[in-house]
Amino acid sequence: MDNRAIGFFDSGVGGLTSIPPVLKNLPYENIIYYGDTARAPYGSKSKETIEYFSSEITDFLAKHDVKMIVAACNTVSATCLDQLRTRHPEIPIIGVVSPTVKVAEKTCLSGDHVGVIATRATVKSGTYAKKIVEKRPDLKVFSTACPAFVPLIEEGIVKNRIMDLTIQYYLDSFIKENKIRDLILGCTHYPLIEEEIAKIYPDLRIISSSAEVSRAVELELKKIDGLAEPRKAEHLFFASDISNHFIDLLWRISEGNRDAFHVGIFHGQEF
Ligand code: DGL
Repeated sequence: MDNRAIGFFDSGVGGLTSIPPVLKNLPYENIIYYGDTARAPYGSKSKETIEYFSSEITDFLAKHDVKMIVAACNTVSATCLDQLRTRHPEIPIIGVVSPTVKVAEKTCLSGDHVGVIATRATVKSGTYAKKIVEKRPDLKVFSTACPAFVPLIEEGIVKNRIMDLTIQYYLDSFIKENKIRDLILGCTHYPLIEEEIAKIYPDLRIISSSAEVSRAVELELKKIDGLAEPRKAEHLFFASDISNHFIDLLWRISEGNRDAFHVGIFHGQEF
């Protein structure tokens, strides 16, 4: 048993999409989340910068004595997970790419054309295509970067015509020309526009990973005998810049349990 918190982080609000299944399946676990809203997006930055920012955040979470860390960001998971593990060998660190690949591995049909949409850095890393084909050589993988999605989502520009047009701008020809049947949301921000994508492309099978991430967290905690004792959990959410959208999303995922949610701003001076 281990009552210390689980650390989650992302460049901004995206990693919050990984939280609801964890709250539901592991209700006694304390969570400390860090969203680097002041420096998002990560996906258009260099590998070195992404590693530098995420090292600062893992150090911050380590100072909070977390028992494990979830890099709830595909960009970090695809570019520098090994470096973070080397930096903090004392803390198990899991990413979100492998759980997402696991969903594709289990659900795609033989011969399927699988589309991966993600940030520039994730696409450039080639991590998704490599991992999927390793597990399922019968699938054909196509990837494309959608760099405008994250800034729009961070601004809360989601349910409107600007987002619909942006989705069509990136996906219309990508889906048609490559005959995509399954679409992997390879960025934790994208579940926030999943409904919009599904509305425009109703025949597409959309794959996202939050349920599988929660399973991976549970497995890891069981492996290290790290599950918390039954008790009322407390959750701490930090951001490097608090936006109304961040707060709105937070209250949405708290589902009426607001008194367990505490919000802090941490600019990073003490990283
Ligand atoms: N949500 C992140 C991801 O899963 C990062 C997006 C970004 O900051 O560009 O890739």
